[in-house]
Amino acid sequence: MIILGIETSCDETALCLLETREKDGGMEYRILANIVNSQIDLHRGYGGVFPALAKREHTKNLPILYKQLPEMKIDAIAVTQGPGLEIALWTGIVFAKELGEKLQVPVIPINHMEGHIVSTLLSGSEPHSDFEKLRHLQFPSLAILISGGHTEIVKVDGIGKYKILGRTLDDAVGEAFDKAARMMGLPYPGGPEVSKLAEQARAEALSKTITLPRPMIHSKDINFSFSGLKTAVLYLLKELVNITDNQKKEICREFEDAVTEVLISKTKEALDENEYSALIIGGGVIANKHIRQAFENLAQEYNLPLYLPASGLTGDNALMIALAGAMKKGSSEPDFKAIGNLSLEN
Ligand code: KG4
Ligand code: ZN
Repeated sequence: MIILGIETSCDETALCLLETREKDGGMEYRILANIVNSQIDLHRGYGGVFPALAKREHTKNLPILYKQLPEMKIDAIAVTQGPGLEIALWTGIVFAKELGEKLQVPVIPINHMEGHIVSTLLSGSEPHSDFEKLRHLQFPSLAILISGGHTEIVKVDGIGKYKILGRTLDDAVGEAFDKAARMMGLPYPGGPEVSKLAEQARAEALSKTITLPRPMIHSKDINFSFSGLKTAVLYLLKELVNITDNQKKEICREFEDAVTEVLISKTKEALDENEYSALIIGGGVIANKHIRQAFENLAQEYNLPLYLPASGLTGDNALMIALAGAMKKGSSEPDFKAIGNLSLEN
């Protein structure tokens, strides 16, 4: 079947056409089109995503991007229902429902975080003409979801069967990166900027004169807290007054180290509590090379197959939404609404 994916939960307007078919008990897919239109340059002036602007841009761009897709007979539409900015989510949902009505095809609501989970089963983001096998996943697997809005450790018992084992009690990892970056005068989104400076600190082997806390690293549960780390950066910056470029790089490296150590330590705790067949890492923050490497080492240590999104699929995209829709086998719910805080356990 050919499925149209639509994603508008934050500051990316994304559309995708994905064809899937069942073969030998598994799924095969081919990407017919995959468009991601980022609004980052527009939001940068606000230091973060400005919801009303996101809504305006999604509404304006959805029909324009839709016209860029190859003309094909669509069998179903999958659209992000949440979590995300509600007014942004609605733009995609309204567009999907109107189109579904016009084409007389089902419209499937998708949880954005489920999208990040299944994105790790694809081997790339570029359109291709030959069918490819979808990566097979064994259950139960453990998913670590790290993005700008979420930090969750999830037991995956099957597609659609999720149990949240731990989550952040305050800021999400990506949010902490973005806030720390902002304090240091780095542009939005801060994650890639902090990571760039951290890498420079490592390459230049700068001495370690700065220490930041590892929040909740020894707590017995597998929840996270990143707001203390952000506050520690704030105090440090107040102390340093005239911060040098090297000090900035050092802070970035220490920040990245602190986040990585906490993520790995909590993942280990979860892995030690239960038998898992695979480790999945999804969400925008896994674009971070240092964190990626740490999870690669961890998977090796635990002898678990590791599922990471291919490049071009770490951030928000509609391909993961279309795939999640295809895996739900086209079940339609005509009256669904946008849900800003939609949980994976819904
Ligand atoms: O999944 P995503 O694209 O959007 C949400 O659903 O939130 O994640 C975006 C987040 C932002 O906070 C961004 O700063 C962070 O991912 N991010 C990074 C890196 N690239 C993106 N954080 C750390 N290091 C990176 N290289
Ligand atoms: Zn996301």
